[in-house]
Formats: sequence, structure tokens, C-alpha cells
Amino acid sequence: MKDWRMHYHLMPPDGWLNDPNGLCRYQGEYHIFFQYSPNAPGPDGRKARTWGHYAGPSLTELSFRGVPFWPVDPVDHDGCYSGSALVEDDGIRLYYTGNVKLPGDHDYTYSGRQANEILVETDGEHFGAKQTVLVNADYPSDCTCHVRDPKVWKENGKYYMVLGARVAGPDHKAETDHGEVLLYVSEDGKAWKLAKTLQMDERFGYMWECPDYFSLDGENFLGICPQGVASEEFRFQNIYESGYFRVDGGTEENQHLHDFQEWDNGFDFYAPQTFEDGTGRRLLIGWVGMPDAPYRNATADCDPYWENCLTVPRALRAEGGRIYQTPAEELTGLRGDPLQADPEGQITLPDGAGDIIASWPEKPDGEKIWKIIFGNDDAVLTFSEGVLSLQLSEKAGCGRTIRKCRTGDIHTLRILADTSILEIYINDGAYVMTTRFYPDYAGTDPELTVRFEGSRPAVSAWAMQTMQTNILY
Ligand code: FRU
Repeated sequence: MKDWRMHYHLMPPDGWLNDPNGLCRYQGEYHIFFQYSPNAPGPDGRKARTWGHYAGPSLTELSFRGVPFWPVDPVDHDGCYSGSALVEDDGIRLYYTGNVKLPGDHDYTYSGRQANEILVETDGEHFGAKQTVLVNADYPSDCTCHVRDPKVWKENGKYYMVLGARVAGPDHKAETDHGEVLLYVSEDGKAWKLAKTLQMDERFGYMWECPDYFSLDGENFLGICPQGVASEEFRFQNIYESGYFRVDGGTEENQHLHDFQEWDNGFDFYAPQTFEDGTGRRLLIGWVGMPDAPYRNATADCDPYWENCLTVPRALRAEGGRIYQTPAEELTGLRGDPLQADPEGQITLPDGAGDIIASWPEKPDGEKIWKIIFGNDDAVLTFSEGVLSLQLSEKAGCGRTIRKCRTGDIHTLRILADTSILEIYINDGAYVMTTRFYPDYAGTDPELTVRFEGSRPAVSAWAMQTMQTNILY
């Protein structure tokens, strides 16, 4: 338990995990790939950044299926980077970016890096040959070497792909470069042509990673992860951000991007991907982590080494241009015993894992003030004047300090706690705050206390069982 392994969040079996990749459901099986650097060296003896693979019949019954491909070819020698899945009748098409760093005196932003978009066809078990479908020469000439993360979908019989890009400014500096999305079109998913680029009228960061284009409840959205956006008190509080635009116009029309909204206002959330799972739902899974953050993960010191996890799958719903996120309903199947609050309003989560729903009657801003305290002040949620703040202690936060979210009145909270992560869903998922934290679980019977102070909510809570996947590792 000391190693902060989780009960119902997907983690790497060992080593490092980042972005979710290739999310899909094919012939009744879910596939959740992820950016993975296992502890052991790859087939050519080098440490690799590649894909890992979980699959199984439901979102809570997955098993680790190993590494589908390794970065051992000239087209992806320095990493099988992020990408997506497209489900066809006769198989799955995986698209990813082959990252190549050329030898020589390069800065790898303006020279020396190749970004090859690669297609691998699979039935979910066997993985075909790598087919390179786009190379640097196919990108607009003002792009830097940072072009990556293909997200592919099919619409009216045509294939479309969005790529994230960093466009060079006049003086080759982050301050004047800008982020945009390249949109390609294809008749067969193999020969691609640039259709257009999508950007903001005003510069919004120097690089956009991990684009995701999708329709939800009759509206079009473009998800991106912009880098280089200035922080504000209530927005853009992390080093890199992650959110979505509402898109006016269809794929074949002029399109405009509006109203960037962040997916998550916590410390650890980046590079999410959405997919439709054939049950009428669009689900989102995010990476619970943050590249280049000024804070760290205590698990980096564990033996064997491991770091990061994925969010639970979140079902999406759009209303009035805003996307609401709620934990996929399968999660309720992992609920164990109901937990009661003691007379002081304290709940104890066995093994640090629980699902808590708190609700307050609606009141105007300013009439409710409350706190929820996790463990020994390891994480404290404070609500006052329409603002929810999440403050972590120095020890449990490992450098995480405070994040604030202007929510307006809060009438419901759902908190998924899992040993070393909190996912906090506010007002039916209108806002979410996700963070890692590292309480000191001393002893053999680890528990996490959750104490409610101030305006008292009605609370329902359950212990959470461990997914089979997580028992194995
Ligand atoms: C986002 C990202 C992607 C890239 C991948 C490499 O976290 O930087 O843009 O494909 O990670 O692991």
C-alpha cells in the first residue's frame, strides 16, 4: 500500500504512463492503449517510449496485453508517440506519430526532428506492418518540427485527420510561434491531403498537442492541449492546459473556434482522448499527469518504479456549448459496502478508495461555506463565495499548492478517491478537478478519512472494490 497503487484507475504495470491512445471498442472489446515507457529496455536494448495496451469485455474488466509495437524502425526510432484508433467493419486502424531525432547539432524544434504519421492495422490482437502515411514534407512549410498526435474519424464516407502543430514565428521563439491544428482528408485513410488549418484569431499558445475533433449532442468541438498560455487566477493554472473549443461550421465548410473551456481545473490532467463506444456514448479518458510540472509524484521513488495513471472513463454530454463529464456508469458496479458518516461528519474509506456523493440545497452565492478535509489535511476542498479551492499539504502534494475553480453555487459533488488520486466532479460534471496526492498510509490497514465541516451536505458513500486488472499488478 505504501506504493500508492490504485484500485480502480488504470496505471502502467511498471514504469511510466502518459497519454491515453487508440481508445476504441471493436467486436465487443474495449481497447485502451497508452503512452508507455516500461522499466525494461525494448527489443533493441534502448529505453523506449511506446504504446502499452489494456483490453477486455468491459471498462472495468481489462487485462494488460503488452506492447503492440516498438520504436525500432527508421520511421519511429525515437518514440511511438500518441495517436488514435478508427474502427472499421474489418478491423481497427491505429494511427500514431513516429518521432525521429536526426543526429547532428539540432534544437529539435526548428530542425532535426521528423514526425511521421504511421498507420498500423489490427484485429486487436495481431498488429500489421507500419505504413507511413505523412512525413514532414507534407506539412505546411511554416510548421516547426513539432507536428503530431493524429486523431482520425470518418464522416460521409471520407476519412479526416487532425494533427497538433507548432507554427514558426518570425524569430524562432516560443513567444512568437503559435499553435494550430492541421486538418487532412483522405478517400482511403492512406493517401492524405491537407484540407485546412484551424487556429484562433488571436495567438493562443505556441504549440497545440493532442487534438480531438468530435460531434456531441448536435454541436462540433475541437479539443486541444495548448502550451504557452499565460496563467490567470481561475484559469490556465497549470504549466500546460487542456480543453475544447466549440466549432462553428462543418468539416467541409469554413470553421471558427469559440469559447475555449478547460476540461479540468485540478493539478493533474492532460492529453485526453474521446471515443464513441457503440452504446450511444462518447467517453473521455485523460492522462492524470502534467508534463514539465513544477511538482512531482512520490511514486517516482517506488521500487519498482512507476508513475501516473488514467482518469476513469467519463461520459460526455453537451449543453449550451459546455461539456459535462460524469464517471461512466460501470464504475458503480465496483461499489462495495455503503459507508456512514460518524456523528462528527467523518467518513473513513477503507484502503483509501471510495465513491462519495454530497449534495446541498441550492442557495445564493455566499450563503454556504464548507470544507472537506482528506486525511491529515493532505487535501482540503474549501467552498466560499462561489469559488472552490483545492489545497494540498506540502508533504502529500509533493509541490502541488492550490488550484481554484469559479463554480458558482455548488449543489452536488461526486468525489472518486483512490489511494493517491482525487477526481472531483462538481454540479453533475460542469467542472472537474483532478489531482494526485500522497497521504502517508502507515501500517497494514490503510484508511483515508474524509471530514465535512461547515454547511452540512447529505452524503452517500461507498467503499470501492479493486478491478481485477489492478489486483494483478
Ligand atoms: C503529450 C505528448 C504528445 C506526444 C506524447 C509523447 O503529453 O507530448 O504530444 O505524442 O506526449 O509521449
